[in-house]
Amino acid sequence: MSEIAKIELGGNSYELPIVEGTEQEKGIDISKLRGGTGGYITLDPGFKNTGSTKSAITFLDGEKGILRYRGYPIEQLADKASFLEVAYLLIYNELPTQEELDTFKNSITSHTLVHEDMKQFFEAYPAKAHPMGVLASMVCSLSTFYPESLDPNRDQEARNLTIHRLIAKLPTLAAWSYKNAMRHPFMYPKNDLDYGANFLHMMYAMPTEDYEPDPVIVNALNTLLILHADHEQNCSASTVRIVGSSHANLYASISAGISALWGPLHGGANQAVIEMLEQIAEDGDVDKWVAKAKDKNDPFRLMGFGHRVYKNFDPRARIIKKACDDVLAKLGIDDPMLDIAKKLEQIALEDEYFKARNLYPNVDFYSGIIYKAIGIPTEMFTVMFALGRLPGWIAQWQEMIDNKEPIGRPRQIYTGETERDYVNIANR
Ligand code: SDX
Repeated sequence: MSEIAKIELGGNSYELPIVEGTEQEKGIDISKLRGGTGGYITLDPGFKNTGSTKSAITFLDGEKGILRYRGYPIEQLADKASFLEVAYLLIYNELPTQEELDTFKNSITSHTLVHEDMKQFFEAYPAKAHPMGVLASMVCSLSTFYPESLDPNRDQEARNLTIHRLIAKLPTLAAWSYKNAMRHPFMYPKNDLDYGANFLHMMYAMPTEDYEPDPVIVNALNTLLILHADHEQNCSASTVRIVGSSHANLYASISAGISALWGPLHGGANQAVIEMLEQIAEDGDVDKWVAKAKDKNDPFRLMGFGHRVYKNFDPRARIIKKACDDVLAKLGIDDPMLDIAKKLEQIALEDEYFKARNLYPNVDFYSGIIYKAIGIPTEMFTVMFALGRLPGWIAQWQEMIDNKEPIGRPRQIYTGETERDYVNIANR
């Protein structure tokens, strides 16, 4: 007998079906609640208790600190896979064979160039333009160069071209947004470099001399991109799904996801963490800043701490913290930020305020220190997050389209003025 939920409303009893997932998560299916109860809806600001969809892409368990992409533990993927292998897994549901991976990589390599007309767009931005604003605009602009991308319901082969173009061009657009800010000459992609090395080449190479990406940095970047690749129905993934549910094209949907990620409560936290650590390093009094974070009257929050879902630890933070130690040691860097970060983490882990609220370091807490160590400028940190998250966003968008999900249109409880008549301005 399948489980049901019973609710009593206005003297009547209603039964609601229970949905159970492959990892025994359970949800009350309220899709017929309003019609069945004469108008009752549920209310859940921030969707803390509300599922928006059924998904087969990523599973995470916030209590146990589990994160799996298509069933594969993040620890194994970060240790053994390449980023494009993980991108293929997220988008096509299976780890690729060597032949499938080669075909995927070759398709992406052949689309890394951006239309020459788009270079002019960069020159119109001021040097101080935040690269996330540039990236969101440029990704949406791709739809104007590839009108065949406008229809999300084309067959998989046509859709693959739209998808591969975006995976191929995002590193180029990201690196060029940095070069534009530096007013340095743009560097074109090199087809003999792999994904991460090509990005580093476009970021740091100059026309005047050869540039050889450091393997330690390339490896660290591969790990970071994998760790950021998907995270089920987070703010930006939900944004991609709801924009895509109107059948807006993929590029417009991803552009919306980039904008959502920009916020300091979401992907923008990695930039905010380093700015916070710099502020604390300058001030020198870590305890003062911890007290500020606990003070309800102080808007300051400990950036990089806390998570909507992880209530014990963020498995990605553990991997990144170890990678931090490795990368800084291999590069011979002694970054005082890392010492402050570890001291902050230790204080918070022992402090009742943080323990009572299950506030632990999240994926953004240590990632900025690695990005800094490999030479990524602070304003590009969230762009790095977007580079990693792209295949996850694409997989989420594709699942929503393939499942023919309805347009997203939440209800509300109205709390404004009841009906009243217009008053002529002379009488107001
Ligand atoms: C990401 O969803 C995802 O999966 C996101 C992400 C992904 O991969 O896509 O994991 C990436 O966005 C990670 C989170 C990055 N953001 C930050 O590091 C910003 C700092 N963190 C907080 O803003 C906060 O923890 C959130 C936004 C991450 C989560 O907020 P919630 O779940 O809405 O929790 P809340 O704001 O209701 O806080 C609960 C309590 C509150 O105190 P009380 O009202 O109960 O007294 O905890 C407090 C908050 O004031 N609190 C913090 C805090 N985070 C929460 N207090 C101090 N410092 C913090 N960082």
